[in-house]
Amino acid sequence: MDTCVVSVSMNLAVIGLQFGDEGKGKIVDFLAERFDIIARFSGGSNAGHTVIHDGVPVKFHLLPSGVIRGKVGILGNGMAIDPGKVLDEINMIKSMGIHPKLYISSKAHVVTSLHRALDSRDDELVGIGTTKQGIGPTYTSKYRRIGIRVADLYNPQTLEKKLQLFIELNSLNIDKNELNEELKRLSHYGTLIKDSVVDTEVLINNMMDSGKSALFEGSQGTFLDVDFGTYPFVTSSSTTVGGVVTGLGVPPSKIHRVLGIAKAYTTRVGAGPFPTELSGKEGDELRARGREYGATTGRPRRVGYLDMVLLRYASLINGVTEIALTKLDILQGMDEIQVGTAYDCNATRYLYPPANIDGCKVNYDLYAGWASIDDKNLNDYVKNIERETKARVSILSYGPEPESTVEL
Ligand code: IMP
Repeated sequence: MDTCVVSVSMNLAVIGLQFGDEGKGKIVDFLAERFDIIARFSGGSNAGHTVIHDGVPVKFHLLPSGVIRGKVGILGNGMAIDPGKVLDEINMIKSMGIHPKLYISSKAHVVTSLHRALDSRDDELVGIGTTKQGIGPTYTSKYRRIGIRVADLYNPQTLEKKLQLFIELNSLNIDKNELNEELKRLSHYGTLIKDSVVDTEVLINNMMDSGKSALFEGSQGTFLDVDFGTYPFVTSSSTTVGGVVTGLGVPPSKIHRVLGIAKAYTTRVGAGPFPTELSGKEGDELRARGREYGATTGRPRRVGYLDMVLLRYASLINGVTEIALTKLDILQGMDEIQVGTAYDCNATRYLYPPANIDGCKVNYDLYAGWASIDDKNLNDYVKNIERETKARVSILSYGPEPESTVEL
């Protein structure tokens, strides 16, 4: 295997190794020039990616950010797509003078305003602290087999029947007028996106077979994955590498490399266990230094030390081949930095997280802080990550701009 981070015509999955917000948007943007296709496979507008384009921050929630670089963007079948929000983002980039080459899966599931309303209602009771983007109810409908797929936007009878079922099964208080409004709105959006709607699994495989390369852009992170995350405090989709296969129809043999993105420390938005969390003054300072506020909801993120128990596991289950380490500038100048190495849960030591990590006690190692990006102490921090994850750290990121990035 060559050691170059990403060679041309290799397909690369980019996966968050923590709780999301690792800086995937910036790294995907940094690598986008090397690929023909940038494809998303899971989630929806719960994600938030900020990229700096011509010196200006541009926020994406649904579209793969690579479309601003003229790349083919694909929204895969595994996604939960709010068509109104897709149109907003298309219009945003058109206003920048860019016409996106975008394809939307006919089999992706549609988030309606009713799904969004139900998300808010349910979360009051459940207390996950969701982004209120309708993600949970949309995937619930999918697995309940009453979900609305993009293809249904062109079939008024099916659309009406499915919305009615959704209303009945969830005891929603929606009258006939409201239902008709929603049907009209969805059909209208359907018309506006129609030219982009295709069977993306066929398109992407044919493109790759003819020599085009693809970057599979993950959303959220490994510990928000519905199977491997800190259940039930997770999102409702597969955010790990398996999501590429089911969420795009790409066979495993076409995923050549897996780039894991890890922040130099850890953050989390919303409720759920966070063993290395820092509270009080130390936490407040790190949050302020790292400007840790949610890109979708603006909520302050919880912050804490790097957790090697989580990274080891994320690397294992995603088959990570290389790692991009982000936000190194935020820790720069600290005297010493702690790193979680193992958990003690009910008198048992764990190197990988067990099913329930709430209440686990963390063991820490201490690392000397670094004063610059080429400081030997940073090299020690990085080498430890490589040893523990068995993956090569191939990118260091120390600022939001593309220039604040080095490839090793
Ligand atoms: P949902 O995906 O909106 O259902 O939210 C479920 C959990 O995932 C909540 O704790 C959210 O804060 C979290 N979450 C969802 N998307 C993201 C993201 O893109 N970054 C960070 N956390 C997220």
